[in-house]
Amino acid sequence: MSLAADFGVTLTQHVLGNQAHHPGARGRFSALLTQIGVAGKLISAQVRRAGLIEVWGATGETNVQGETVQKLDRIANDTFVEVLRRSGCVAAMASEEEDALIEVEPENAGDYVVAFDPLDGSSNIDVSVSIGTIFAIYPRLHPDRVGLDDILRPGRDMVGAGYIVYGSATVLVYSAGRTVDSFTLDPSSGEFFLTRRAIRMPAATKYLSINECNAPYWQPWVQPTLDAIKGRNDDEKRRVSARHIGSLVADFHRNLLTGGLFMYPVDRRTGRGKLRLLYECNPLAFLAEIAGGGASWGGGAILDVDPEGLHDRSGLIIGPAPDVALAERQYHEYRSR
Ligand code: AHG
Ligand code: MN
Ligand code: MN
Repeated sequence: MSLAADFGVTLTQHVLGNQAHHPGARGRFSALLTQIGVAGKLISAQVRRAGLIEVWGATGETNVQGETVQKLDRIANDTFVEVLRRSGCVAAMASEEEDALIEVEPENAGDYVVAFDPLDGSSNIDVSVSIGTIFAIYPRLHPDRVGLDDILRPGRDMVGAGYIVYGSATVLVYSAGRTVDSFTLDPSSGEFFLTRRAIRMPAATKYLSINECNAPYWQPWVQPTLDAIKGRNDDEKRRVSARHIGSLVADFHRNLLTGGLFMYPVDRRTGRGKLRLLYECNPLAFLAEIAGGGASWGGGAILDVDPEGLHDRSGLIIGPAPDVALAERQYHEYRSR
């Protein structure tokens, strides 16, 4: 190989090569993914300077869900919205940080609608721990109008999803329905280069990721599920260990690559989950299934849930398929008692 050609495949080259294979990914899908990469680079640049410039801390606002808005939440949201609005690829967007559907003016509107969590893991911002951006892409339903029905659809309708994790490196992971591939941002050239092709989630659970302090609020099927998994450890060998960051996107990224089960089950007092279906659970469920894993709300697949509102919350059990199935069996067993 000549030295001049000795560099990797860029994100843009990869999406251009792949879109031809995806029948549902019509229109300017590759342009959209490239623009999501641009938004990711801009947000990454802000994250990397957090603490040096004035982006730590809260804005003083609370969002539609009653949560404190951090300055970086706002910066990430505005960056993502503005880059996608100008891209010409998107007709509407739904964001964790915005109450209502964000409609793009008709002259700029494109073929897709996107739901996103601009910054996941807000509690980790001010302590420089991994955070990320999560996105879900749907084809718009009608050429002449756009509305809530474009986004309030089961996750099965997605044509693409992914995330960008701002960790020890900035890594973009996406799928257009066939494979899950990852790209690492090269800080010197400002390009995302392909670093992992066709990622498969290991079938054996190596890590358990759950906030155990919620144990008093779990439904009765959760503890036996955890006990069954922890019971694989014995005097001979430790097969399972705990890993929990508190940023879903970073927990999922580790679990996707190494084989880990993340659980945030519903609260037994309210019957509600914490994580949001449209821009947290669905996109990661899409990636998990394509990588050979699974994702459930407890009693069934996340991707089959019909959402009612933009900010619906769900239980989430996501990771290696055999243990997602184990959790579902426990759920149904306890429900039938
Ligand atoms: P966000 O920062 O977008 O509001 O999401 C935070 C989420 C998720 O990243 C994480 O797994 C979970 O909240 C942690 O919640 P607990 O502190 O209740 O465990
Ligand atoms: Mn989040
Ligand atoms: Mn968020």
